[in-house]
Amino acid sequence: MESVTFLGKQLKNPLVLASGILGNNAGILERVHRAGCGLVTMKSIGPGPRDGHNNPTVIDLGFGMINAVGLPTPGYDHMDTEWQALSGRTFPLNASIYGGSLEEFVQVARFVSEQGPEFIEINISCPNSDRHGMLFGVDEKAAFAVTNAVKRVIAVPLIAKLTPAAPDIGKIARACEDAGADAICAINTAGPGMIIDIEAQMPVLAFKKGGLSGPMIKPVAVRCVYDIYRAVSIPIIGLGGVTTGEDAVEMFMAGATLVGMGSAVRYRGIEVFDQVNRELADWLTDHHVTRDEIIGAAHDRRHTP
Ligand SMILES: Cc1cc2nc3c(=O)[nH]c(=O)nc-3n(C[C@H](O)[C@H](O)[C@H](O)COP(=O)(O)O)c2cc1C
Repeated sequence: MESVTFLGKQLKNPLVLASGILGNNAGILERVHRAGCGLVTMKSIGPGPRDGHNNPTVIDLGFGMINAVGLPTPGYDHMDTEWQALSGRTFPLNASIYGGSLEEFVQVARFVSEQGPEFIEINISCPNSDRHGMLFGVDEKAAFAVTNAVKRVIAVPLIAKLTPAAPDIGKIARACEDAGADAICAINTAGPGMIIDIEAQMPVLAFKKGGLSGPMIKPVAVRCVYDIYRAVSIPIIGLGGVTTGEDAVEMFMAGATLVGMGSAVRYRGIEVFDQVNRELADWLTDHHVTRDEIIGAAHDRRHTP
């Protein structure tokens, strides 16, 4: 696929590695970029150190995955080795951050911005300790407040990553846009869901409930991107269940500017980026259209490019 300009930065193609799939090791992230990924997202970084949930944390259901990893992090200020290695990188980096309160988000964002990533993505699918554990991303006021507060302390474009748990995801996206977000990423995992071991008569995951990802959530993700496209005029990273070039085409038609993949990396390896780039290019050639021409094509009202 051809290179694209996203929020003023040149990416070699429109494919994005989702957060949390391959960690934060500079060597691994570099390999993903070399394997055909246009923009690499880091595993979410928060205040820490914080252990994740007990095993088992990730189960492959064949048609997607269920996970309750629990946002483990060494802590944003305990990552000297990673930041050092990433400072010499040759690829664009999207740093994902989270906090349990507005103050924590601001603290992490300020520090991470100083490390010089190309973009900062706020993972607002985590519980807000000031609001009795309600997710930041299901409440317009909380989403506005956190986006606005982070925007004030960072020097790079801000991407707000939304949860499909929001009753009206378009309204949340709009609140983030109003607060200064430069782009939206959707979606984080769906659910939560649960699987039960019927012989043991207990939930399989140690945390009992987990987020759903992979092919089974693609229709939810496509619907969310569609709703967001109608609500905002900033670009969207469409993410959730994409595994093939045709899945990516569907995301573009719903309104995505870039397309992310997470679980697909587990199913098809990091080669999935090269493969999807090729499948996408072939589809566009066969249909005599460009990527720009199909963005938002499923809508009766399209953004001006
Ligand atoms: C094992 C695992 C860990 C994840 N960790 C994070 C994370 O740290 N931060 C985040 O924003 N999303 C995280 N996600 C969500 C993904 O980035 C993505 O939004 C979701 O999996 C849907 O995309 P997919 O269907 O392509 O996997 C994680 C997903 C999985 C499967």
